Amino acid sequence: KSNNPHFIMNGELKEDDAYSVCVQNSVQHLLDQAIKLAYPNNQNLPVIITPGKTSDYQCNSAMPIAQKLGQENAESPQNPKQIAQTIVQHIPKHPIIDSVDISGPGFINIHIAPTFVSKQIRKILLNGALPPNINSKNKKVVIDFSSPNIAKEMHVGHLRSTIIGDSIARLLEYLGYNVLRLNHLGDWGTQFGMLIAHLQDKFPEYLHNSPPIHDLLTFYKTSKKRFDDEPDFQKRAYQNVVKLQSYDPDIIHAWQLICEVSRRDFEYIYRELDIRIIDRGESFYQPMMEIVVDELEQKQLLKEEEGRKVWFLPGITVPMTIVKSDGGFTYDTSDMACIKQRLLDEKADWIIYVIDSGQSLHMQSVFAGAKLAGWINETSDVRIDHVGFGVVLGEDGKKLKSRSGEAIRLRDLLDEGLQRSLTKLKEKERDKVLSADELSKAQKSVAYGCIKYADLSKSRTAVYEFSFDKMLDDRGNTAVYMLYAYTRIRSIARNAGIKEETLKQKAAEIDLDFETDQREFKLAKCILRYSDVFVRLLDDLFMHALCEYMYQLATAFTDFYDKCYCIEKDKITGETTINYRRILLCEATANVMKQCFEILGIQPLQRM
Ligand code: ARG
Repeated sequence: KSNNPHFIMNGELKEDDAYSVCVQNSVQHLLDQAIKLAYPNNQNLPVIITPGKTSDYQCNSAMPIAQKLGQENAESPQNPKQIAQTIVQHIPKHPIIDSVDISGPGFINIHIAPTFVSKQIRKILLNGALPPNINSKNKKVVIDFSSPNIAKEMHVGHLRSTIIGDSIARLLEYLGYNVLRLNHLGDWGTQFGMLIAHLQDKFPEYLHNSPPIHDLLTFYKTSKKRFDDEPDFQKRAYQNVVKLQSYDPDIIHAWQLICEVSRRDFEYIYRELDIRIIDRGESFYQPMMEIVVDELEQKQLLKEEEGRKVWFLPGITVPMTIVKSDGGFTYDTSDMACIKQRLLDEKADWIIYVIDSGQSLHMQSVFAGAKLAGWINETSDVRIDHVGFGVVLGEDGKKLKSRSGEAIRLRDLLDEGLQRSLTKLKEKERDKVLSADELSKAQKSVAYGCIKYADLSKSRTAVYEFSFDKMLDDRGNTAVYMLYAYTRIRSIARNAGIKEETLKQKAAEIDLDFETDQREFKLAKCILRYSDVFVRLLDDLFMHALCEYMYQLATAFTDFYDKCYCIEKDKITGETTINYRRILLCEATANVMKQCFEILGIQPLQRM
C-alpha cells in the first residue's frame, strides 16, 4: 500500500496519450470494485494482487476474506472457492481484462487482453516510454543528497548518496514532480576555525591573494594537528568560529576562499557523473538557527544540561544538542532550522534525505522535533523520508582504502574506473571497431555506468561491497551486460537497413497481434510492466527494483530473440523478409530500456 499521500493512482482506464497505463494498479482497481460490489456491507476487505504464476496477475483475496467473514459469523463457514466465484461475477467489464479463471483453493487468475497490449506497445513505439499518470502535478519535492563537507574528503559514502539521490530525483522528475535538488554542504563547522587560524599564520596576505591551497586536505590535516597540539592555536580557532558565525568580514572572506577550493573539487565529480545539484549548505541556515533557538526556548522545549541546551524527544533516549556550552550551534541545530525552512518556506509536499543509515537516529530526532515544534501538524499530508544506505566496504570486507592504506579519493576512484573500463573494451577488441570518439564515449559510459549500476542494483540498506572486477563483469545483472544488450537491440533494425521513418510508419500502421506467437506476447507483456515498477518505486524508493526489472526485460528479450527470427532468408530463393511486428517489439524493448537507463543516470550508446 502506498504511504505517499499525494499519490492517487487512477485505476480507471482513461485513454490518455500523455501517460502510460499502470496495469497492475488498473487490475487492483477493478478487483477492488468487484469485492466492494460483492460484499457491500464489508468495505475493508483486502485486495491482494500479485504477478500471476499461470496468468498475468493473480488475486489472492478469497482466502483472507473467507477467514474474516467466518470470524464474523461462526455459524456460516465460508468457502474461499465460492467467494472467488462471487468476486469474479462482480468484476466490471473492462478492455484490459481478457479472461478470468479460478484455480486451487480460490486463486483468481487474470489474463490481460491482447488488444490492450498491442495498443500500449504502439504507444511506446510512437511516443516513447511515457510515465504513468499519478497525482504529481504541482507537488514539490525537496531532495537532500550528496552533501559532502567542505575542506574534508568527499568519501565513498557521499558517492553513494550522490548516486542514489540523483537516481531518485530523476525518477521523480520523470513522474512529473517539481524537484528541488539540494546539496546540504557541511560548510559551517569547527573545521573553519582551525583552517582560518592556520591561514592567518601562513598566508597573512590571505585577504588579498588567494592562498596556494592546492591540496586543501593536507592543509586541513596540518591545522587539525596544530589544533590538537598548540593550546594557543586552539583558542584562536574557537574564536574564529564565533567570529564566523557572527559574520566577521575578514573571517567570512577567508571562509569563502576555502569553500571555493573545495567546491571546485566537488564540481569535477558532479560534472563527470552528470549530476545536477544546487549548493545550499549549513551556513545558509545561520540566521534561521537563531530564530529557531528562540522559538524552542519560548515553547519551553529545551533543558539546561552542563551549560548546554538540549532537547529530549519522545521515545528517543539521546537528546539533541541545540546550543553548545560556548554558545555555538550544532549539526542538530542546523537540521532543525533546515527542516523548518523546507516545510514552511519551501512549502515542500515531500522531503527526502539521502544519508547513510548511521545517521538514522539523528534523522528520527529531527522529524520528531519538527512535529513537536508544531511545524508538521496532524492533518498535514507532508511526506518525509530518510533514505538510508549501508556502509561501503572493499573486497577484503574492510572499509574501502587505497593501496597505501589511506581513504580513497573519489577522483582517483573515478580514474581507476575509466582505466579499467578501457582495458575491458580493449580486451573485447572494441578499439578495432570503434572510432576514437566512440571508444572514449564507451569508456566513460561503461566506467560510470558500472559504478552507478553496482550501487543501485543492490538493496541500498545492505552493506555494499565495492569491487571493480564484479561491476565490470559482462554476465549477470551488471551495467556492462545491460549496456551491451541495449546496443545489440538497437542494432537489429539498423543492420537490416531499416530507416527510422519506416519504423515509425510501420508502428502506426501494421497489426500488432503479438498474441499469435506466445513468445512475442510474453515479451510484450513484460515491456508493459515498466509502469508497475515505477509506481512501486514511489513507495519505498528502493531503486534496485528497477534494475531487477531491467534484468528481467533483458532476459525476456533474449528468450524471444533466440527463438524468433526478425529477418528471414528464404532457403530457396535467397530473398529476405522482414518481420516488422518483431522488429517493432525489439524497438519497444529498447525504448523502455532507454528510459530505465535515464532514471539510473546511465548513458547508453548506439554503438559500443
Ligand atoms: N554533511 C553531512 C555528512 O557528511 C551530510 C548532510 C546530510 N543532510 C542533512 N540535512 N543532514 O555526514
